[in-house]
Amino acid sequence: MSILDNRPSLKAEIDKVAEVAGYLWIKGWAERNGGNITINITEWVDEEMKTLPAISEPRAIGTVLPHLRGCWFYCKGTQKRMRDLARDPMGSGSIIRILPDCAHYEMVADAPVAPTSELPSHLSVHNYLLAKSSPYRASLHTHPIELVALTHSKKWLEKDAATRMLWSMIPETKAFCPRGLGMVPYMLPSSVGLADATIRAIDEDYDVVMWEKHGVFAVDTDIMSAFDQVDVLNKAAQIYISARNMGFEPEGMTDAQMKELSDVFGLPK
Ligand code: 13P
Ligand code: ZN
Repeated sequence: MSILDNRPSLKAEIDKVAEVAGYLWIKGWAERNGGNITINITEWVDEEMKTLPAISEPRAIGTVLPHLRGCWFYCKGTQKRMRDLARDPMGSGSIIRILPDCAHYEMVADAPVAPTSELPSHLSVHNYLLAKSSPYRASLHTHPIELVALTHSKKWLEKDAATRMLWSMIPETKAFCPRGLGMVPYMLPSSVGLADATIRAIDEDYDVVMWEKHGVFAVDTDIMSAFDQVDVLNKAAQIYISARNMGFEPEGMTDAQMKELSDVFGLPK
Protein backbone atom coordinates (compact mmCIF):
# COMPACT_ATOMS: atom_id res chain seq x y z
CA MET A 1 0.00 0.00 0.00
CA SER A 2 1.17 3.49 -0.86
CA ILE A 3 -0.29 6.86 0.03
CA LEU A 4 -0.36 7.45 -3.75
CA ASP A 5 -2.80 4.55 -4.34
CA ASN A 6 -6.19 5.83 -5.56
CA ARG A 7 -4.82 9.37 -5.75
CA PRO A 8 -4.05 9.61 -9.49
CA SER A 9 -3.61 13.38 -9.68
CA LEU A 10 -1.19 13.42 -6.73
CA LYS A 11 0.65 10.42 -8.20
CA ALA A 12 0.91 12.20 -11.57
CA GLU A 13 2.71 15.17 -9.92
CA ILE A 14 5.09 12.90 -8.03
CA ASP A 15 5.72 10.86 -11.20
CA LYS A 16 6.87 14.13 -12.84
CA VAL A 17 9.37 14.57 -9.99
CA ALA A 18 10.64 11.02 -10.62
CA GLU A 19 10.98 11.73 -14.35
CA VAL A 20 12.97 14.92 -13.69
CA ALA A 21 15.16 13.10 -11.13
CA GLY A 22 16.10 10.64 -13.89
CA TYR A 23 17.01 13.52 -16.23
CA LEU A 24 19.20 15.11 -13.53
CA TRP A 25 21.14 11.87 -13.17
CA ILE A 26 21.53 11.38 -16.93
CA LYS A 27 22.75 14.97 -17.30
CA GLY A 28 25.49 14.37 -14.74
CA TRP A 29 24.07 17.02 -12.43
CA ALA A 30 23.16 14.63 -9.59
CA GLU A 31 26.27 12.92 -8.27
CA ARG A 32 25.64 10.78 -5.17
CA ASN A 33 22.80 12.52 -3.24
CA GLY A 34 23.38 15.86 -5.03
CA GLY A 35 20.41 18.16 -5.48
CA ASN A 36 16.90 18.20 -4.10
CA ILE A 37 13.31 18.80 -5.19
CA THR A 38 10.23 19.89 -3.28
CA ILE A 39 6.71 20.44 -4.61
CA ASN A 40 3.73 22.01 -2.91
CA ILE A 41 1.08 19.28 -3.24
CA THR A 42 -1.59 20.90 -1.03
CA GLU A 43 -4.13 21.17 -3.87
CA TRP A 44 -3.99 17.39 -4.46
CA VAL A 45 -4.49 16.38 -0.82
CA ASP A 46 -8.01 15.02 -0.25
CA GLU A 47 -10.04 15.05 2.99
CA GLU A 48 -9.22 11.41 3.77
CA MET A 49 -5.50 12.06 3.42
CA LYS A 50 -5.79 14.97 5.87
CA THR A 51 -6.95 12.49 8.55
CA LEU A 52 -4.00 10.11 8.13
CA PRO A 53 -1.76 9.74 11.19
CA ALA A 54 1.79 11.07 11.15
CA ILE A 55 4.61 8.52 10.91
CA SER A 56 7.18 10.79 12.59
CA GLU A 57 7.50 13.09 15.56
CA PRO A 58 7.12 16.81 14.80
CA ARG A 59 10.44 18.23 13.60
CA ALA A 60 11.55 21.87 13.54
CA ILE A 61 11.89 23.59 10.15
CA GLY A 62 14.44 25.99 11.69
CA THR A 63 12.41 29.06 10.84
CA VAL A 64 8.76 30.19 11.08
CA LEU A 65 6.85 30.29 7.79
CA PRO A 66 3.33 31.70 8.33
CA HIS A 67 2.03 31.19 4.78
CA LEU A 68 2.66 27.43 4.96
CA ARG A 69 -0.04 26.77 7.57
CA GLY A 70 -1.88 23.61 6.48
CA CYS A 71 0.37 23.05 3.45
CA TRP A 72 1.69 19.69 2.25
CA PHE A 73 4.91 18.99 0.35
CA TYR A 74 6.64 16.14 -1.39
CA CYS A 75 10.40 16.34 -0.59
CA LYS A 76 13.42 14.41 -1.77
CA GLY A 77 14.97 12.62 1.21
CA THR A 78 18.27 13.81 2.61
CA GLN A 79 21.21 11.68 1.45
CA LYS A 80 18.94 10.02 -1.12
CA ARG A 81 20.05 9.63 -4.73
CA MET A 82 18.14 11.17 -7.65
CA ARG A 83 18.78 8.01 -9.65
CA ASP A 84 17.03 5.96 -6.94
CA LEU A 85 14.21 8.48 -6.63
CA ALA A 86 13.60 8.14 -10.37
CA ARG A 87 12.64 4.47 -9.82
CA ASP A 88 10.94 4.80 -6.44
CA PRO A 89 9.89 8.33 -5.42
CA MET A 90 8.30 7.24 -2.13
CA GLY A 91 11.38 5.20 -1.17
CA SER A 92 13.74 8.17 -1.68
CA GLY A 93 11.36 10.94 -0.64
CA SER A 94 8.41 11.59 1.59
CA ILE A 95 5.34 13.72 2.12
CA ILE A 96 5.24 16.22 4.96
CA ARG A 97 2.54 18.46 6.38
CA ILE A 98 3.26 21.76 8.11
CA LEU A 99 1.90 21.99 11.64
CA PRO A 100 -0.31 24.89 12.80
CA ASP A 101 2.66 26.61 14.53
CA CYS A 102 4.21 27.02 11.03
CA ALA A 103 7.58 26.09 12.58
CA HIS A 104 7.36 22.28 12.58
CA TYR A 105 6.39 19.52 10.16
CA GLU A 106 5.57 15.84 10.40
CA MET A 107 5.79 13.04 7.85
CA VAL A 108 2.65 11.43 6.45
CA ALA A 109 4.13 9.01 3.97
CA ASP A 110 4.91 5.41 3.06
CA ALA A 111 8.19 5.36 5.02
CA PRO A 112 9.82 7.88 7.38
CA VAL A 113 12.33 9.29 4.86
CA ALA A 114 13.80 12.46 6.42
CA PRO A 115 13.46 15.44 4.03
CA THR A 116 16.38 17.12 2.27
CA SER A 117 18.92 19.11 4.28
CA GLU A 118 18.01 22.10 2.07
CA LEU A 119 14.47 22.11 3.48
CA PRO A 120 14.92 25.61 5.02
CA SER A 121 15.62 27.09 1.56
CA HIS A 122 12.88 25.15 -0.19
CA LEU A 123 10.17 25.86 2.38
CA SER A 124 11.19 29.52 2.79
CA VAL A 125 10.85 29.94 -0.97
CA HIS A 126 7.43 28.20 -1.03
CA ASN A 127 6.35 30.51 1.83
CA TYR A 128 7.51 33.53 -0.19
CA LEU A 129 5.71 32.31 -3.34
CA LEU A 130 2.41 31.83 -1.48
CA ALA A 131 2.77 35.27 0.13
CA LYS A 132 3.04 36.74 -3.39
CA SER A 133 0.08 34.65 -4.66
CA SER A 134 2.44 33.10 -7.20
CA PRO A 135 1.17 30.08 -9.21
CA TYR A 136 4.61 28.44 -8.76
CA ARG A 137 4.46 25.12 -6.90
CA ALA A 138 7.85 23.50 -7.56
CA SER A 139 11.44 24.17 -6.52
CA LEU A 140 14.55 22.45 -7.80
CA HIS A 141 18.13 22.53 -6.54
CA THR A 142 20.72 20.78 -8.72
CA HIS A 143 24.45 20.91 -9.59
CA PRO A 144 24.69 21.66 -13.38
CA ILE A 145 28.36 21.40 -14.26
CA GLU A 146 28.86 24.33 -16.64
CA LEU A 147 26.71 26.82 -14.70
CA VAL A 148 28.53 25.98 -11.46
CA ALA A 149 31.87 26.36 -13.26
CA LEU A 150 30.93 29.94 -14.25
CA THR A 151 30.52 30.90 -10.59
CA HIS A 152 34.21 30.23 -9.96
CA SER A 153 35.02 33.50 -11.76
CA LYS A 154 34.37 36.96 -10.25
CA LYS A 155 33.52 38.19 -13.74
CA TRP A 156 30.40 36.06 -13.97
CA LEU A 157 29.27 36.75 -10.40
CA GLU A 158 28.68 40.43 -11.21
CA LYS A 159 24.99 41.23 -11.39
CA ASP A 160 23.52 40.08 -14.75
CA ALA A 161 26.93 39.50 -16.39
CA ALA A 162 26.21 35.77 -16.79
CA THR A 163 22.59 36.51 -17.81
CA ARG A 164 23.68 38.75 -20.68
CA MET A 165 26.30 36.28 -21.90
CA LEU A 166 23.94 33.26 -21.67
CA TRP A 167 21.05 35.04 -23.40
CA SER A 168 23.35 36.02 -26.27
CA MET A 169 24.51 32.43 -26.99
CA ILE A 170 21.26 31.19 -28.62
CA PRO A 171 17.90 33.00 -28.96
CA GLU A 172 15.92 30.37 -27.06
CA THR A 173 17.70 31.22 -23.81
CA LYS A 174 16.02 34.59 -23.36
CA ALA A 175 12.75 33.28 -24.83
CA PHE A 176 12.48 30.44 -22.30
CA CYS A 177 14.37 31.94 -19.35
CA PRO A 178 13.23 35.56 -19.70
CA ARG A 179 14.07 36.59 -16.14
CA GLY A 180 17.73 35.55 -16.39
CA LEU A 181 20.01 34.16 -13.73
CA GLY A 182 20.39 35.64 -10.25
CA MET A 183 23.51 35.22 -8.10
CA VAL A 184 23.69 34.27 -4.42
CA PRO A 185 27.17 34.60 -2.85
CA TYR A 186 28.63 31.43 -1.32
CA MET A 187 26.94 30.37 1.92
CA LEU A 188 26.94 27.21 3.95
CA PRO A 189 24.69 24.57 2.33
CA SER A 190 21.40 23.99 4.21
CA SER A 191 21.75 27.18 6.29
CA VAL A 192 18.90 29.59 7.04
CA GLY A 193 21.25 32.36 5.79
CA LEU A 194 21.31 30.65 2.38
CA ALA A 195 17.50 30.38 2.46
CA ASP A 196 17.15 34.13 3.19
CA ALA A 197 19.65 35.09 0.48
CA THR A 198 17.82 32.84 -2.03
CA ILE A 199 14.55 34.65 -1.35
CA ARG A 200 16.22 38.05 -1.71
CA ALA A 201 17.52 36.96 -5.13
CA ILE A 202 14.19 35.49 -6.28
CA ASP A 203 12.50 38.70 -5.09
CA GLU A 204 14.67 40.65 -7.57
CA ASP A 205 12.47 38.83 -10.11
CA TYR A 206 14.55 35.80 -11.01
CA ASP A 207 13.14 32.27 -11.43
CA VAL A 208 16.61 30.73 -11.40
CA VAL A 209 19.44 31.71 -9.05
CA MET A 210 22.98 30.37 -8.70
CA TRP A 211 24.37 29.36 -5.36
CA GLU A 212 28.03 30.37 -5.87
CA LYS A 213 30.37 27.34 -6.25
CA HIS A 214 27.47 24.99 -5.44
CA GLY A 215 24.46 24.79 -7.76
CA VAL A 216 21.24 26.36 -9.00
CA PHE A 217 17.91 26.91 -7.31
CA ALA A 218 14.93 27.24 -9.67
CA VAL A 219 11.20 27.76 -9.22
CA ASP A 220 8.30 27.37 -11.63
CA THR A 221 4.68 26.22 -11.90
CA ASP A 222 5.70 22.55 -11.91
CA ILE A 223 8.92 20.58 -11.66
CA MET A 224 9.19 19.95 -15.42
CA SER A 225 9.13 23.70 -16.14
CA ALA A 226 11.69 24.43 -13.39
CA PHE A 227 13.95 21.77 -14.96
CA ASP A 228 13.45 23.29 -18.44
CA GLN A 229 14.68 26.69 -17.30
CA VAL A 230 17.87 25.22 -15.81
CA ASP A 231 18.38 23.01 -18.88
CA VAL A 232 18.09 25.99 -21.25
CA LEU A 233 20.55 28.08 -19.22
CA ASN A 234 23.07 25.27 -18.88
CA LYS A 235 22.88 24.60 -22.64
CA ALA A 236 23.85 28.24 -23.24
CA ALA A 237 26.78 27.86 -20.81
CA GLN A 238 27.89 24.74 -22.72
CA ILE A 239 27.84 26.66 -26.02
CA TYR A 240 29.99 29.40 -24.46
CA ILE A 241 32.45 26.87 -23.10
CA SER A 242 32.54 24.92 -26.40
CA ALA A 243 33.48 28.10 -28.26
CA ARG A 244 36.20 28.86 -25.68
CA ASN A 245 37.47 25.30 -26.06
CA MET A 246 37.72 25.86 -29.83
CA GLY A 247 40.05 28.74 -28.99
CA PHE A 248 37.90 31.82 -29.42
CA GLU A 249 35.60 34.10 -27.41
CA PRO A 250 32.08 33.62 -28.87
CA GLU A 251 30.65 36.75 -30.52
CA GLY A 252 27.21 36.44 -28.96
CA MET A 253 24.07 37.88 -30.51
CA THR A 254 24.25 41.66 -30.95
CA ASP A 255 22.27 44.13 -28.80
CA ALA A 256 20.08 44.85 -31.86
CA GLN A 257 19.35 41.12 -32.31
CA MET A 258 18.49 40.78 -28.61
CA LYS A 259 16.19 43.82 -28.79
CA GLU A 260 14.43 42.48 -31.89
CA LEU A 261 13.87 39.14 -30.12
CA SER A 262 12.44 40.86 -27.02
CA ASP A 263 10.17 43.12 -29.12
CA VAL A 264 8.80 40.32 -31.34
CA PHE A 265 8.24 37.82 -28.52
CA GLY A 266 7.12 40.38 -25.92
CA LEU A 267 9.91 39.49 -23.50
CA PRO A 268 10.88 41.69 -20.53
CA LYS A 269 13.59 44.27 -21.41
P1 13P B 1 20.34 16.36 0.47
O1 13P B 1 20.77 14.96 0.16
O2 13P B 1 20.18 16.63 1.93
O3 13P B 1 19.09 16.73 -0.33
O4 13P B 1 21.50 17.37 0.00
C1 13P B 1 21.94 17.42 -1.32
C2 13P B 1 22.49 18.76 -1.72
O5 13P B 1 22.68 19.01 -2.89
C3 13P B 1 22.77 19.76 -0.67
O6 13P B 1 22.99 21.02 -1.20
ZN1 ZN C 1 23.56 20.97 -3.37
